[in-house]
Amino acid sequence: MSLQTFAGFGGLPIVARLWGDPHLPPVLLLHGIGQTHAAWADAAYALEQAGRHVIALDLRGHGESGRPVDGAYSFDAFVGDLRGVLAQLPARPVVVAASFGGWLAAVVLGEDGGHLASGLVLADAPPELDPQIARGIADGLRRRAADNAQAAVWDARILDTIDSEAVAIRVRDAASRLAVPTLFVRGSESRVTDAGAVESFVACIASAEFAQIEGAGHLAATDRTEAFNAVLLNFLERRVPLLPPEYREGTDPRTLRDALGCFATGVTIVTALADDGTPVGLTANSFTSVSLDPPLLLVCIARNAGSASVLEQADRFAVNVLQIGQQPASNRFASRTADRFGMTDWQLGEMGVPVLNGSLSTFECARHALHDGGDHIILVGRVIKATFEPRRDPLLYFRGKYRRLHFA
Ligand SMILES: Cc1cc2nc3c(=O)[nH]c(=O)nc-3n(C[C@H](O)[C@H](O)[C@H](O)COP(=O)(O)O)c2cc1C
Repeated sequence: MSLQTFAGFGGLPIVARLWGDPHLPPVLLLHGIGQTHAAWADAAYALEQAGRHVIALDLRGHGESGRPVDGAYSFDAFVGDLRGVLAQLPARPVVVAASFGGWLAAVVLGEDGGHLASGLVLADAPPELDPQIARGIADGLRRRAADNAQAAVWDARILDTIDSEAVAIRVRDAASRLAVPTLFVRGSESRVTDAGAVESFVACIASAEFAQIEGAGHLAATDRTEAFNAVLLNFLERRVPLLPPEYREGTDPRTLRDALGCFATGVTIVTALADDGTPVGLTANSFTSVSLDPPLLLVCIARNAGSASVLEQADRFAVNVLQIGQQPASNRFASRTADRFGMTDWQLGEMGVPVLNGSLSTFECARHALHDGGDHIILVGRVIKATFEPRRDPLLYFRGKYRRLHFA
């Protein structure tokens, strides 16, 4: 076990305990109010044994992490701490978070930090909180904090600054935008989470699954340690596996596609005119610049694409690189049924090939060469004319999904 101090919101030190080889896939553990990293002792051990790198934080005002002198315990400060820690980690962890820690994680990963984690486990983090129950919890925590031993562990001023009703609304809103694989674990005897509210909460998260720990209360991870750890490890094995998937020639082509999909690209629409003057075009991300002198580029076209025969024969074609607003066009030119050109703003370019208006850049090409590329043809074009729009952002494609640039 080792210690690491991260810079939290406003530079406040956030202390973490770490177990396991730092090269293994990481799991970040977040506790609830009034606890410390120690709440996760058993889960941390099980995760380390299962080959994970475990990082258990003390939230601000808890354990060995900083306690701001001005009592700055706003929810935003906690959110800032978590965002800071995630950004400082070398790999995207699965965040496993109990209660209040779950609120933080749902807000950070749902609002704009989805790229900072590879999965989320919410351990009894209430999606709605009955004000009476919230008061009961706060009173219980205050009583415990009044006891000397507890006061050393956490700063009870936290309870004076968190508006649990406002936070619960924010959590619900952020959760509906969660895109990482998510598991909600509820203790069947929990008084803090309501079974019906949890069900509707899980239903609003696209990538979520649900597990109930029978006989456990709000703190399922400590109430029924073994049952909780089994559910947690099962989720990790399925959704964030330890061993990276492997492709071997002749095996499942899906894995090869997934491996190739790790190469982030832009998106283009390749266009040409058929002999009878009909415009043809298809979405393609296999675009590559080839040579500056002579000016060459290439695209790979599936032999079984409807447009392949026209593109194979056309002595001119255009490559339109798409900007972020052209995602509908990208879908249209990848769909068999859509009216591709009827619904798209285009014109004939100088070289007599269809050019899509408003593209990020357009390359009007003469056919330079055609090569065999297995089930694709490699179409090499000599660029006769190129234009581009310097003020727009590209439409990106990565791991089978459209993406946009973000500057962290
Ligand atoms: C993001 C994205 C990238 C694609 N890249 C290619 C590509 O490089 N080459 C290709 O042949 N098809 C590619 N496709 C698939 C074609 O766009 C799709 O099969 C289309 O329906 C073919 O049209 P066609 O059969 O009318 O020619 C891509 C689809 C998408 C959504």
